[in-house]
Amino acid sequence: MSDVENIAKQMVAKGKGILAADESTGTMTKRLASVNVESTSENRLKFRETLFSAEGMKNYISGVILYDETIKQKTTSGKTIPELIKSFGSIPGIKVDTGAKVLAGSPEEKITEGLDGLRERLREYYKLGARFTKWRAVYNISEKYPSELSIKSNAHALARYASLVQEAKMVPIVEPEVLMDGNHNINKCYEVTSKVLKACYRELKLNNVNLKETILKPNMILPGNKSRDKSSAKAIAEITLKCLKENVPSEVPGIAFLSGGQTEIEATQNLNEINKINDTNFLMSFSYGRALQQSALKNWGNNIKDTLNTQKIFNHRSKMNGLSTSAKWSSELEKQITA
Ligand code: 13P
Repeated sequence: MSDVENIAKQMVAKGKGILAADESTGTMTKRLASVNVESTSENRLKFRETLFSAEGMKNYISGVILYDETIKQKTTSGKTIPELIKSFGSIPGIKVDTGAKVLAGSPEEKITEGLDGLRERLREYYKLGARFTKWRAVYNISEKYPSELSIKSNAHALARYASLVQEAKMVPIVEPEVLMDGNHNINKCYEVTSKVLKACYRELKLNNVNLKETILKPNMILPGNKSRDKSSAKAIAEITLKCLKENVPSEVPGIAFLSGGQTEIEATQNLNEINKINDTNFLMSFSYGRALQQSALKNWGNNIKDTLNTQKIFNHRSKMNGLSTSAKWSSELEKQITA
């Protein structure tokens, strides 16, 4: 097994998952504003350092996705952030796309940018300690979208990105996110996600990407957030597994879902249900941003100095998600905040 393949396996090891802490400064500013904290580089670091030095990192977090600003920052004790993450046995990763921009030719849709100069940036990130990367493409569901153009263009960019990342000896997380915004039903999400995944794997193969050295980060198959369709966790798990079985090549070692606007409990429960019925060789894990950080951020916003309780909340969420990777989560366990 290559070193890169080994890292991909570690990223989705049973009982663990990824913390997506790679919010761009714009997104992080919105998150901090929601808890009335000013978005300075110092405050962004403070919150992140609080999470990265929590005990839960050791047992439940296999890797952390960082943003460009964070990977270059130092902790109060002088360690670099990647050093801090490594000291907890976790792997540092980095978001390398430069964001979703208006897609010329279909201006209501988005294309993810960041390929220019990527080879050079990857070299720098590797030196800074990163061993995996992330690139996120986004697709909207509506009557006419996503268009063929957005599906094709984003798949092409994702594949070129993945190929460059493997050249730089890191694991590319391939993230095509079909957004949950809208009033569509769950079948529509299944249909669109299937199309998107098919296009992505067609392009990845064309670009000679070694799928064994990749991780897929997809959305779960869900009804739109304005839909009257309220699917059960069991129904979500069944259709999500069906979609992945039909469209993801078996060489892919692992799938780490994004939370995409689900509540913390929904994201945990749905992953748990998926793992209850997972009869594939894919390791099914998480790469959550909001679903790992929301409650911790709220506590921290109330009192920036309350590191202990912020970490307790984060440890608990990490543990609950860790349990869901082995289908060992239950709503009773949710009530026990210990660590
Ligand atoms: P959410 O889990 O909040 O969707 O974030 C994951 C992520 O990294 C989106 O790119």
